[in-house]
Amino acid sequence: MEKGRPKISVIGAGNVGASAAFRIAQLELADVALIDILEGVPQGKALDLSQMCPISGSDINIVGSNNYEDTADSDVVIITSGIPRKPGMSRDDLISTNTKVVKSVTEQVVSHSPEAVLILVTNPLDAMVYVAHKVSGFADHKVMGMAGVLDSARFRAFISMELGVSVETIHASVLGGHGDTMVPLLSHTTVAGVSIAELVPSDTLEKMVDRTRNGGAEIVKLLKTGSAFYAPAVAAVEMAEAIIKDKKKILPCSVYANGKYGIEDTFVGLPARLGSKGVEEIIEFDLSDEEHAALHASVGKVRELCEVIDGMGIL
Ligand code: NAI
Ligand code: 2OP
Repeated sequence: MEKGRPKISVIGAGNVGASAAFRIAQLELADVALIDILEGVPQGKALDLSQMCPISGSDINIVGSNNYEDTADSDVVIITSGIPRKPGMSRDDLISTNTKVVKSVTEQVVSHSPEAVLILVTNPLDAMVYVAHKVSGFADHKVMGMAGVLDSARFRAFISMELGVSVETIHASVLGGHGDTMVPLLSHTTVAGVSIAELVPSDTLEKMVDRTRNGGAEIVKLLKTGSAFYAPAVAAVEMAEAIIKDKKKILPCSVYANGKYGIEDTFVGLPARLGSKGVEEIIEFDLSDEEHAALHASVGKVRELCEVIDGMGIL
């Protein structure tokens, strides 16, 4: 049978999930199955999105459901289900609840889409990628997490605000775990090819790096009842698009570092080439000694969380 449109399932029809479905529809990227445990919510949001499609000119099918049969044969599955942070909470405080949610969701997803590529969004991000990888039994290159695209976008936004230049001229890469130890790579941050260090005084640069590290918390404090979702959703869909269209796009993602950067057996944010197979290559940038040390410190934090999960004894 001829293969129809690509299919993306989005698990969790909350703020990030629904915004991701919106973005997929606007890009006319793929058919969408939007899944949640709440009855009525994914159905209602999918119907609303379907009624947007005649206006946006998007010929795709969007189904909202509580049944994983509707996710069957997905090319990509974006997992956003779980709880978000409230003010005062760290991403790591979510670990117990979200490990159980991601485990159960992953089991159901893979039974219906054994060939899919999984993109995790649920926090604590890198540890949830570890959970999905272990539970799915999928090959390393088929499981990844979204964080670096968002963290890099935040850094680019702050640079654009500071310098008054288009976001499109700014390149930045934030590596490491999605937490306070993330590593904005100053050595690879450029504006129209010029190093950021030549354009911004070091104390200002330090403040921007700090704001990037705390970018999620800044928004949680303002929203009070949840965390950021527009930028995270668009970031996850950028990864899905690279896979669906086999773009070979290099993006910072949480990927399985099998010896790259001297990191063994850990999912953590590194530059990866994404194409139809998922993670097709991890790109090794030259890092300064300071960046290398910061990356390894961040890996240590991710490993601590994975040990907590192992200690839960449920995987
Ligand atoms: P939300 O609360 O708006 O949506 C989460 C949805 O998941 C809810 O609709 C809930 O009913 C659903 N859900 C819970 N358990 C489920 C289950 N077992 N099966 C199916 N659905 C289930 O939260 P939001 O803002 O969408 O965030 C979702 C997650 O993404 C959070 O863990 C948050 O911390 C994380 N996040 C991660 C980012 C990143 O950079 N990696 C960025 C933004 C959010
Ligand atoms: C963020 O960075 C909550 O991880 C999410 O906004």
